[in-house]
Amino acid sequence: MERDENRDTIRDTIRLVLAPMAGYTDGPFRRICAENGCRETVSEMISAAALHYKDKKTASLARILEGEGPVTFQIFGHDPVMMAEGAEILLTGGYEGCRYAADPAGIDINMGCPVRKITSNGDGSGLMKTPELAAKIVEAVKPVCVRYGKPLSVKIRAGWDKDSINAPEMAVMLAQAGADRVSLHCRTKEELYTPGIRLEVLADTIAALRKAAPACEIVGNGDINTWADAMTMLDMGCHGVMIGRGALGNPWIFRQILEAAAGQTPFEPTERQRREMAARLVREVVAEKGETVGIRESRGRAAYFIHGLRGSAKMRDRLNHAATMTEFLAILEEGGDMPCDEGETK
Ligand SMILES: Cc1cc2nc3c(=O)[nH]c(=O)nc-3n(C[C@H](O)[C@H](O)[C@H](O)COP(=O)(O)O)c2cc1C
Repeated sequence: MERDENRDTIRDTIRLVLAPMAGYTDGPFRRICAENGCRETVSEMISAAALHYKDKKTASLARILEGEGPVTFQIFGHDPVMMAEGAEILLTGGYEGCRYAADPAGIDINMGCPVRKITSNGDGSGLMKTPELAAKIVEAVKPVCVRYGKPLSVKIRAGWDKDSINAPEMAVMLAQAGADRVSLHCRTKEELYTPGIRLEVLADTIAALRKAAPACEIVGNGDINTWADAMTMLDMGCHGVMIGRGALGNPWIFRQILEAAAGQTPFEPTERQRREMAARLVREVVAEKGETVGIRESRGRAAYFIHGLRGSAKMRDRLNHAATMTEFLAILEEGGDMPCDEGETK
């Protein structure tokens, strides 16, 4: 497809997805992204075992707030029966503490988390080493998704390490087991989040799926920070792109991509708009989780919004010491207008 023709299609049909990020993609942030052009968001990862044991804290992850767009719930684990049960619990909301303002959009299975605590159980990217088990999990979860009329996606990595790249074969296996979509984070588990992605693995995965499982969609992920980054993956043949860290201080990235696709000048938030959005996020997180947890969680998150602004180092330091929401909001309102330390430029 020619680039311009591709742009038209993209404007209308592109799957612009917010990547799941533990500690970040909660309801308030997902809602902000949805308001800014994101067409689907994915929850923080939710443990299937914790759902099975009715863990109280886990219920707070199973929420969809008023005003959110389509939300897919992501589960992790390695036991096919427990994963199917987890999907069922999340799709029905049959769990004390679940709160849904709208139906979940689907289920995603985490096969990419590189954290040792997760992989040592064979969960997350541990499943990249056990493709047969990964396929069994998909086979077990699929009928649950079908019963509720929801799509099933899987999120994989390029492979475990550079000597065991298996995303193309794994994607085909998972598609043939019933996955409707594969999202590929184009790095190995060993590469964690280091800069640079393996676009050649994405190309091979697209080709493999086209040949063996053409109904399965593929979404590219990794280091998408601009419209041009998104376009690179879309031009390769992805059905969509999934954005993680690029959205953390810039939830406008989704509308920026859509505007660029429409040939418009992409929206650029002002310094004030960035501080105001950080303030909105804090208010909404506190409303959801209470002041103590809300403030603690908001420190790092607000830092993304103010990164690079005048006086941001000092602002960040003050935010780290703010004990109440009133204090937190006052610092964001004041912005970089307070005096900088000698030699400090931002
Ligand atoms: C703080 C953080 C938390 C993450 N949590 C999850 C998670 O819960 N589930 C998951 O599949 N991936 C998780 N990821 C990986 C992202 O979804 C994404 O694949 C990765 O960040 C690469 O995309 P990016 O370069 O756009 O950030 C996390 C990444 C970060 C930085």
